Amino acid sequence: MKKILGLTLVALLLFTVVAGVASAAAPLPQGGGQEYTVQADDWLSKLAEKNYGDVLAWPVIWKATNAKATEDDSFAAIANPNVIEVGQKLWIPDESEAAQYFEEFSAERAAATTTGSPDITGELNLLCVVELEWCEGQIPEFNKLYPGIQINWIRMSSGESLTRLRNEASNPQFDVWWGGPIDSYITAAKEGLLEPYDSPNAVNLRDPQLMKAPDNSWFGIYIGTLGFATNLDYLEAHPGLVAPTSWDELIKPEWKDQVLIAHPSSSGTSYTALCTILQLRGEEAGWEYMRAFADNVLQFTKSGSAPARFAGSGEAGTSVVFSHDIVKQIEAGLPLQLTFPAEGTGYEIGGTALIKGAKNPDLAKLWIDWALTPAAQELGPKYNAFQAPTVIGAEASRPELLEVNLINYDFDYCGNNKSAFVDRFTNEIANADALKE
Ligand code: G6P
Repeated sequence: MKKILGLTLVALLLFTVVAGVASAAAPLPQGGGQEYTVQADDWLSKLAEKNYGDVLAWPVIWKATNAKATEDDSFAAIANPNVIEVGQKLWIPDESEAAQYFEEFSAERAAATTTGSPDITGELNLLCVVELEWCEGQIPEFNKLYPGIQINWIRMSSGESLTRLRNEASNPQFDVWWGGPIDSYITAAKEGLLEPYDSPNAVNLRDPQLMKAPDNSWFGIYIGTLGFATNLDYLEAHPGLVAPTSWDELIKPEWKDQVLIAHPSSSGTSYTALCTILQLRGEEAGWEYMRAFADNVLQFTKSGSAPARFAGSGEAGTSVVFSHDIVKQIEAGLPLQLTFPAEGTGYEIGGTALIKGAKNPDLAKLWIDWALTPAAQELGPKYNAFQAPTVIGAEASRPELLEVNLINYDFDYCGNNKSAFVDRFTNEIANADALKE
């Protein structure tokens, strides 16, 4: 899967869809359009930004090339906008043609919403990984569209949910998995635990290369960035100490036994932090850092968001949590300060997927189609969930949480190495025997 630069990711997520492409910043190709041969490290949103000044205009090149391929076999149709090959010939249309293709795409997207049906009945078994409040809120929202579907659900952290899916692989108890970083979804897909599903609403995704699996085994439904939550009373009681703004500060003696974070075996939040460090510093230096970091950790928790609550209640000085979960605690009145590591922080794409062997696959598909609509993704803030959306037409409730220095987080690297990295952490850094709950 193509990686994406943090900057482009922020632009991608903060862009609102402008009517047509003509209003894009950069001048459009003139004179009917032009052929372009794909170079290494090209992907459609990058070419859209280069040609139209708008990363969201990628469907224009996709649709124009496919149209050309029907009349000129020197163009190969693009079956999956995730995948373009070096040497492949694309058609970059000019302004008037581009606007037509963008209008066609927008019409498709408008059609790819979900209106629901009172007539569909049955049971849907949902494995929910987001915060409990959002699980509890999102399910009745789904039932407003599908009142005849009874949802049986449980909330678990990412690592626990992956273990559950592994254990039940021969007789899956869940139909759909919703929430938690895609690192676990990539691992699960590699292990054959997910069922590819080509949702018609995937066309809503702002960047399919980044936000869905090439084989449609998972889809991205939100974005969250890692931050630090530091107790203000602790800072006041320790003059000279300031809220950390670098990973380096967390391994200093001043924070000995004052850091809280979840354990990467149970928590996707924590695993995102581990894989961020391994990418920022390289693996050997990264593992050295994790040893020093673990020495400052008071106790590892089971849940990824819990450290912010515990730090907010004064049980520790600081914590590593997704920034939207920190904002939730600050807005609940806990004395916390949110900061980010200046050298770069990691981010998650929250996932959703159809479970292989699901007993109610058709109802699970309705959930996934709905989860890929602006309406469903904009419900988060109503339940104090401030992740950024992944679909066009939905705006980030807390855009400032994306405007930080993001590393070029490699989801394939982190997803494909999750088991090995979690095992190494558990065996060499800290075990998961007594996690704080
Ligand atoms: C919280 C966050 C989600 C994240 C999830 C992972 O619920 O709000 O954005 O995906 O944690 O949970 P975990 O407990 O596995 O870290």
